Amino acid sequence: MKETNTLIEYGTSIDPNTMVVPLDVSELELEPGHPGLGDTEYVHRRQELFALCRRHRLEHLGPPTIEYTAEETRIWREVSPKLHELHDKYACSIYLKAKQDLAINETEIPQLRTISERLERETNIHLVPAEGALPYRTFYEYIAERGFPVTQFLRHGSHPEFTPEPDMIHDCLGHVPPLMNQDYAELLTLIGKAAATTPHGDQVLALKRFSWFSIEFGLIEEAGETKVFGAGILSSTGEIPHSLFSKDATRRPFVTETVITTDYDPSQMQKDFFIAPSMPFLRRELEALVHRFGIPVL
Ligand SMILES: [Fe+2]
Repeated sequence: MKETNTLIEYGTSIDPNTMVVPLDVSELELEPGHPGLGDTEYVHRRQELFALCRRHRLEHLGPPTIEYTAEETRIWREVSPKLHELHDKYACSIYLKAKQDLAINETEIPQLRTISERLERETNIHLVPAEGALPYRTFYEYIAERGFPVTQFLRHGSHPEFTPEPDMIHDCLGHVPPLMNQDYAELLTLIGKAAATTPHGDQVLALKRFSWFSIEFGLIEEAGETKVFGAGILSSTGEIPHSLFSKDATRRPFVTETVITTDYDPSQMQKDFFIAPSMPFLRRELEALVHRFGIPVL
């Protein structure tokens, strides 16, 4: 890919440097319009979990054991059964089996520490406690070391089916189960290594889009049917039917060149979906891309 002075992301020009120089956010920031903003108790709890998870991340202590509040458990018990029902019908088999193997259920919020130990035995991936969404270069640096950053807070109770940021429901019910699959684990690790190594912002952006249209919003073919495996879809009761059936969305075969040149808007329901024929296919496509970019990580 040609070096350019500006890149387009989310419809606007960005400085390529922002793709390779990670920012560090050291205090909790809830974005304008966040449903929890006016709720002092919620903000206080988020600050407490922010400080705890940040310390555990920076000191390499692994996920802290969290005593979840009654309100947090209520939110989990409200949202996860609705997602489970949709998963049974529309999620890919890799996801369904892994969720069962990890004993993720509708009653109790899982402890990420236990899940991390199980993942480590299965695919040598461990979970890294994250205080919130990390800058993607930082995120990729953890992934390159086979660590997957996960949040441990819950969304605000006034809108249990909506979150403007990744939370425990998104991470634990979306991202974590597929980490039990070896091809998925290797795909993810390679994205991390390549994105954390290249000095070129345009290549980081291309890898970010590859990841977005697979890990985050990917569809996959399974026994002649289209199934869901992207975490952003699996953790949203709206995105699951939207991704598979909406007339306002396109569903095209996963062609790497098209995927890495397709912009997206993370704040809206997605309008472009790509269907991968299999997990090994994605892994091979990524290896070819990294090779073509000349990133020395293979
Ligand atoms: Fe995500």
